[in-house]
Amino acid sequence: MVEDLRLDSLEGVGPVTTRKLSDAGVHNVMDLIVRGPVEIAEITGMEKDTAEKIVNKARQHLVETGLISKDFVTATEVYKRRQDIGKISTGTNCLDTLFDGGVETQALTEVYGEFGSGKTQFAHTLAVMVQKPKAEGGLDGGVLYIDTENTFRPERIVSIAQAHEMDPEKVLDRIIVARAYNSAHQTLILEEAGPVIEENNVKLIVVDSAVGLFRAEYLGRGTLSNRQQKLNHFVHMLSRIAETYNCAALATNQVMASPDVFFGDPTRPIGGNVVAHTSTYRIYFKKSGKKRIARMVDSPHHPEEEVIFGLGEAGVIDPEDTEKKVAKKPAKKLSKKEKESEPEPEIIVSSTELQMVEPTEDADSDDLMSLEE
Ligand code: GTP
Ligand code: MG
Repeated sequence: MVEDLRLDSLEGVGPVTTRKLSDAGVHNVMDLIVRGPVEIAEITGMEKDTAEKIVNKARQHLVETGLISKDFVTATEVYKRRQDIGKISTGTNCLDTLFDGGVETQALTEVYGEFGSGKTQFAHTLAVMVQKPKAEGGLDGGVLYIDTENTFRPERIVSIAQAHEMDPEKVLDRIIVARAYNSAHQTLILEEAGPVIEENNVKLIVVDSAVGLFRAEYLGRGTLSNRQQKLNHFVHMLSRIAETYNCAALATNQVMASPDVFFGDPTRPIGGNVVAHTSTYRIYFKKSGKKRIARMVDSPHHPEEEVIFGLGEAGVIDPEDTEKKVAKKPAKKLSKKEKESEPEPEIIVSSTELQMVEPTEDADSDDLMSLEE
């Protein structure tokens, strides 16, 4: 398979082009597809036509080797490809119920919620769970953890691994951590990720958080379109990587209070529409005393529902397991009564609703502007 992906395995791509491409961070045939012709032309300085030809050849090549599907396929083939989708168990019954088995590969999953709602703990837990054998809910795969907030903690990995009766040293070894210092660096890490993903059989890419650096760097209205464009590029690349390499992508996103939303929960993800349109699944995490609530907000095939979960030594846990994860119990879903007794029962703003909110002059509503459509 690695042989098949070499740039010079493409007809008409000689040493000169190979060097040009690899100088620009494009190391294999998959990378060509992930970056696309417009970008390839931009970063290598080659003619757009040439870039298009090369990318088309790359696509053909991957279709022939069976690594990606043809442009026109029957629904049967789409169905077959979807059979390859792997699921990573969350290690809890409650969240597995919400995710209908686990977090999927070939998809981008966005988890958003306020500070302390458990996004980072969830990411750490998945980074351990994905390494379990398939029979135990994992994918026997490695992890690429892009840490933009300096909140990756190996100690947490150790305790989560121990709680799941795994060897902590081995688990740590299979997590490749990339600390991103600014948004351009964050993007670069992803652009260069191809070989890392292949060599380490990466089945989970975490970006915690996806939007934070972009938001911190691009302040004010004038820079907004630039920011959304760059963020858009990043998020699209992430989801293309998830599809091409058949791995799960998990992006976290903080929410901020938005005073211009009068009805429903006055929080929304800070990436605005760019992230919302690209993610396949969106999950909202919310604090409720010591417990946490997770809600499936957007999904092509999951019902909208909510579950209660907890945080503990073992990462995300079932609400009834106070500290250590114990034997399997049926998932706890919110009963109607519990929902009613919630301290602040609120309706979550769906991404469709978000699109309908008119941007105001308030600086924060900048996030609502989308460049996608
Ligand atoms: P931001 O990154 O600030 O947006 O928050 P986040 O959503 O990533 O929150 P994070 O996942 O870091 O959750 C922090 C919470 O997890 C803490 O408030 C603790 O309640 C809980 N937590 C973290 N580690 C442990 C632990 O070892 N044991 C227990 N019981 N709880 C923990
Ligand atoms: Mg965090």
